[in-house]
Amino acid sequence: MKKHKITLSFLEFKSVDELNDDDRQLLLKAKEAAKNAYAPYSKFKVGAALRLANGMIVIGNNQENAVYPVGLCAERVALFSAQANYPDQPIVALAISAIGSDGKIMQPVPPCGSCRQAMIEAESRHKQPLRVIMQGEEGPIIISEKMENLMPLIFAEDFLAKYTDFE
Ligand code: THU
Repeated sequence: MKKHKITLSFLEFKSVDELNDDDRQLLLKAKEAAKNAYAPYSKFKVGAALRLANGMIVIGNNQENAVYPVGLCAERVALFSAQANYPDQPIVALAISAIGSDGKIMQPVPPCGSCRQAMIEAESRHKQPLRVIMQGEEGPIIISEKMENLMPLIFAEDFLAKYTDFE
């Protein structure tokens, strides 16, 4: 038996004033996007904003449904919209924020596991690290410089390629 240890790293900032201009702008867009979320069931409004390699910003917010599992998270709404409209553009950064209905969210909003898997796909598809910027309504900001730090031991396209005839 061998025990392995995985070391992950992320950056923490006390305030948006410490962020570089690109990260601050993207986070602001995510916060704006959260206001337009359709979240009548959870009342948890999430906003996501991503930057493409060409500098364009694409936003998304959670879209809920009376049939609960039909709804989709903000991150995947933004990702799929970007990839549908600009399939050749790598996604270089994605910011996430949210607005709660019962008190201000004071901690960073992390993407759910399904969104992480979709973000991994975007990263491996374009072979470019995806920077993830997370904040609540206020409070600290955390930044992961690549998806590996948010999801170790991943199942991605290169794994499939190794054991199937898919190229
Ligand atoms: N949600 C997101 O949009 N992104 C996340 O990263 C976490 C959760 C949404 C899904 C659902 O509409 C609501 O937040 C409560 O889970």
